[in-house]
Amino acid sequence: TIRSKLWGGRFEKQTDEAVEAFTASLGGDARLWEVDIRGSIAHARMLGKIGVLTPEETDAILSGLQALREHISAGKATFDPKAEDIHSEIERLLTERIGAAAGKLHTARSRNDQVATDTRLYLREGIDALREEIRRLQQWLVDTAEGHLHTILPGCTHLQHAQPVSLAHHLMAYFWMLQRDRERLTDCRKRVNRLPLGSAALAGTSFPVDRQMVAQELGFDGVCENSMDAVSDRDFVVEFLSCAALVMTHLSRLAEELILWSTPEFGFVELDDSVTTGSSIMPQKKNPDVAELIRGRTGRVVADLTGALVMLKALPLSYNRDLQEDKSFLFDALDTVLSSVALMHLMLSRAQFRTERMREAVHGDFSNATDLADYLVRKGMPFRQAHEVVGRVVQYCLKQGAVLEELSVEQLRAFSNLFDADAVQVLQPEAVLEARRSYGGTAPEAVQQQIALARKLLGGDDI
Ligand code: ARG
Repeated sequence: TIRSKLWGGRFEKQTDEAVEAFTASLGGDARLWEVDIRGSIAHARMLGKIGVLTPEETDAILSGLQALREHISAGKATFDPKAEDIHSEIERLLTERIGAAAGKLHTARSRNDQVATDTRLYLREGIDALREEIRRLQQWLVDTAEGHLHTILPGCTHLQHAQPVSLAHHLMAYFWMLQRDRERLTDCRKRVNRLPLGSAALAGTSFPVDRQMVAQELGFDGVCENSMDAVSDRDFVVEFLSCAALVMTHLSRLAEELILWSTPEFGFVELDDSVTTGSSIMPQKKNPDVAELIRGRTGRVVADLTGALVMLKALPLSYNRDLQEDKSFLFDALDTVLSSVALMHLMLSRAQFRTERMREAVHGDFSNATDLADYLVRKGMPFRQAHEVVGRVVQYCLKQGAVLEELSVEQLRAFSNLFDADAVQVLQPEAVLEARRSYGGTAPEAVQQQIALARKLLGGDDI
């Protein structure tokens, strides 16, 4: 017998120290201590109700667990670094307090359904925290967009100036990415929030457990239907990681734009000193390291997703120790995505947009050429021909070093006699913006509509 082990009875030899170190998970799962205790409290109450524990045993276990929770919360407990995992460590600490009765807590339960339950409880809270962080960032985007309905900057395709857009429209594009993220997390949460406990090791238990009672007490929407699936399912981890990878992908796109926009070449944004860093050799430098790390850590979260999928691939039913690895992927992704959303918000909330630079960038960039072609179309010319005519006007400007919106009517009429005095007006960037009033377009009134809907979505509790 090995006394220090939960399973020591059938063993004649001590576990090799190298094996203990290799298989231990306390370093990774210690943060589950609180949900582990919560799960045990619900389990003990249920065992008391069905008569597996006497009222005295139930009371001893419940008050022991509650006292232990306070003790750990207050930072007074030290986990044994050599403990096998958090579940065995909590049981050991409980035994220290209440003695042999602690040994009855594990009736009708296995660490297999226990760890799956803990992970789901922990993740559920992580999802809620992440949804809240995302909501805060979205709120900033909407509030800021509202003040920039008329701020004009180059809208790009292929990173080339395409058509002018408003800063409001540009910012709101990220609002919608994050809205989809929040919807996905809400949907993912439904499948996270099911109770595995009561599945025991894999086949269920011979005790008349009341799984519905435990589910209700722990706030689960229902129970896992198949005990073998329940102990070996980590789909909910993969789903969350995939949501997290997409959140990071969205943040990395925004981060990349902030990095570009804060260069002297763009000069569209000034990041605050408090969220940037300097160089140890070049005194003039102010670097957007936060944005770069968000961009870089996207790779980590994508790796977490890939790691979890590969870990699960081809695992036979039911529990296998491989599954223990899920937590390193999950916790890494959770920490990374939570801090990245929070830091993106912090960085943006202190950023200064250089709106005059944005407006200058549109001057003479030909991003109004489509509107000149549209003008000819409204005068009856087929679009293909109008495209050709305006192409020649652009070529003329390039050769002359002229600005399209500064040409005179006479200069325009050299290319087509359909041009009248009002042609010059449609070329002004403000007019170009104003004209894109189609639903979802960049005109101030269309963006205002978008913002109104966004505010309504932010107000709802469901998503
Ligand atoms: N620490 C394990 C995990 O995180 C739970 C223990 C299950 N161990 C076992 N031998 N069945 O998955």
